Amino acid sequence: MKYCQGLYPIIRKENPAAGVYDLSILCPEIAAIAKCGQFVNIRIDGFTLRRPISICEIDRQKGTLRIVFQIRGKGTKAMAELSPGGFIDMVAPLGGRGFTLQEGAQAIIIGGGIGNPPMLELAKFYGENAIVISGFRNAAAVILQEDFKGTGAKTFLCTDDGTAGEKGFVTDILKRELQTHTPDIICACGPMPMLRGIAAIAKEKGIRSEVSLEERMGCGVGGCLVCACRTVKDGEGIFAHVCKDGPVFDSKEVFSNE
Ligand SMILES: Cc1cc2nc3c(=O)[nH]c(=O)nc-3n(C[C@H](O)[C@H](O)[C@H](O)COP(=O)(O)OP(=O)(O)OC[C@H]3O[C@@H](n4cnc5c(N)ncnc54)[C@H](O)[C@@H]3O)c2cc1C
Ligand code: FES
Repeated sequence: MKYCQGLYPIIRKENPAAGVYDLSILCPEIAAIAKCGQFVNIRIDGFTLRRPISICEIDRQKGTLRIVFQIRGKGTKAMAELSPGGFIDMVAPLGGRGFTLQEGAQAIIIGGGIGNPPMLELAKFYGENAIVISGFRNAAAVILQEDFKGTGAKTFLCTDDGTAGEKGFVTDILKRELQTHTPDIICACGPMPMLRGIAAIAKEKGIRSEVSLEERMGCGVGGCLVCACRTVKDGEGIFAHVCKDGPVFDSKEVFSNE
């Protein structure tokens, strides 16, 4: 796994929803090798462990990466203080396995809450061959909808309380779309219960599905076991490192007993 470490200039900052920050970072050597589904590991002053954040967008021409994160605790709160004119300490791109990119294939791409950002680069790849389903708690939490529309994908939005888009869950829309459409692959990132539900629907329909996992991490490069996750490969139970063996997995490896 080839990666770079350094202090990179922040060139754009937005605050698209309460507690959510959207940064563009100038890092040409990382943008040149980053792949869809990988992540960056950020060091924040005063914290020993870096914080992993997914790559939302890669612009190789401009040499930039975009990340979108939500304040969860002290680390991400400190990250939210970073601004253009300042620098971010990153190790990237990390993640031994990103999403499968299959030229000409039809994909359904699903993001739940702050699991939406890593799906944007994937939606850009599949473009008009993709259906994007985004789910959020409520209208105030909705992000990235114009970006998803800009990819050419057919987009659906839902919220738990119906304050934006359709009322309901991403799995409701997925089931409905699968009645008239059979994609080659379903890709998802979001809370575990959502991923479990999507994996079950994909399994029932015999469609390949991939999920991006967000385990707590230490080193981010396979050296510490903090991110161990039980998976099944070739019928055998193994502990995979989400950082090195993922963060994207075939859902059959993660939800093998379901
Ligand atoms: C591969 C990967 C990609 C990620 N991508 C994004 C992203 O694009 N945007 C984003 O907002 N967040 C993302 N996360 C989650 C992000 O790393 C955590 O929210 C962050 O590390 C929390 O740090 P903290 O110091 O603010 O919170 P802490 O004080 O460490 O914890 C606060 C709360 O967050 C939970 N938490 C801590 N670490 C994680 C984690 N790794 N995953 C899930 N929950 C966690 C804790 O259990 C606790 O409830 C990603 C995580 C991984 C592993
Ligand atoms: S975070 Fe250290 S092995 Fe994955």
